Amino acid sequence: MSDEVQTQSAFTPRVFSGIKPSGGLTLGNYLGAIKRFVDMQGSGIETIYCVVDMHAITVWQDPSELRRATREIAAGYIASGLDPEQSILFNQSQVSAHAELGWIFNCVARVGWMNRMTQFKEKAGKNAEKQSLGLYAYPSLMAADILLYHATQVPVGEDQKQHVELTRDIAAKFNHDYKVDFFPETEPVIQGAGTRIMSLRDGTSKMSKSDVSDASRINMTDDADKIAKKIRKAKTDPDALPSEAAGLEGRAEARNLVNIYASLQGKTLEEVLPEVGGMQFGTFKPMLADLAVDKLAPISTEMARLMDQPDEIDAILIKGAEKAREIAQPILERTYDIVGMLR
Ligand code: TYM
Repeated sequence: MSDEVQTQSAFTPRVFSGIKPSGGLTLGNYLGAIKRFVDMQGSGIETIYCVVDMHAITVWQDPSELRRATREIAAGYIASGLDPEQSILFNQSQVSAHAELGWIFNCVARVGWMNRMTQFKEKAGKNAEKQSLGLYAYPSLMAADILLYHATQVPVGEDQKQHVELTRDIAAKFNHDYKVDFFPETEPVIQGAGTRIMSLRDGTSKMSKSDVSDASRINMTDDADKIAKKIRKAKTDPDALPSEAAGLEGRAEARNLVNIYASLQGKTLEEVLPEVGGMQFGTFKPMLADLAVDKLAPISTEMARLMDQPDEIDAILIKGAEKAREIAQPILERTYDIVGMLR
């Protein structure tokens, strides 16, 4: 390689996002992420969607369960409408450039930046000293996932906003330190009614795969009966639904169910409130349950079919990883040249 480093890049719009295979997919993952991945596919912009298995092992994962969960997320992607011919679908560990760029970014990011990451604080709680070093460094690997493809847009739920902002800080510091304009300023894409889906048992805490209560979430593998039962049992208040957003102030559970109703239809809260305003939960919940079953049951059926064909899923991920490598490898090599690694 010559000493002359190519530093300019065109920053063609490109979408990258990912989901961790630590446990199964929830309705939060679907509405906050996958449904929007599907919306962005076919918009004329290249779309790359990853199952971020290296992120999953920042907390303990049983190896065979990790393989199963990796396939399940891939099955969720495909069953929801991501087409391996239109989007690049792969699992992170098959493209070693993620780890390599992640290391370089560990040397760019500052400890003070990591100390501000709210997700680490929430996850580590009072036990920060006992967490893996990987969990702490996780946001710089996430920056590598994104910047390895010079991705300009990252569709995520609200909880990932801080990590995408950190990605921008890492890119800016790298460009500044090495006096290049090499990594783009990535935009988080956090839009619509589904960016923060809350627990069905407590409207102030996020719907999460790690919640001890299965009734708190809808899993993408739940069948029609389970989905309907969980919605019927969801926590609510005694009042009728308002027709304007202001009427949801201080009503976290009501807001959450209306957000789910809106998001499942690809609408905003404001668009559905005139329709549901004045309804009691006794009327609204069965309507929401019917809608959820209508939209989600076909996905869970297709996921189950795909999970019975693990070879089919593996072949898609292998092919996707080849395509991902074609984009990632030249960017990694240019990064090495910029940093001054002799090759
Ligand atoms: P993860 O696996 O926790 O979640 C995957 C995606 O689902 C969104 N999400 C939600 N959205 C709305 N409501 C909820 N209750 C909810 N729960 C989860 C998340 O915001 C996310 O978009 N660090 C990431 C994975 C990652 C990544 C990346 C994402 C690694 N590298 C590069 C984008 C780009 C994570 O742990 O997401």
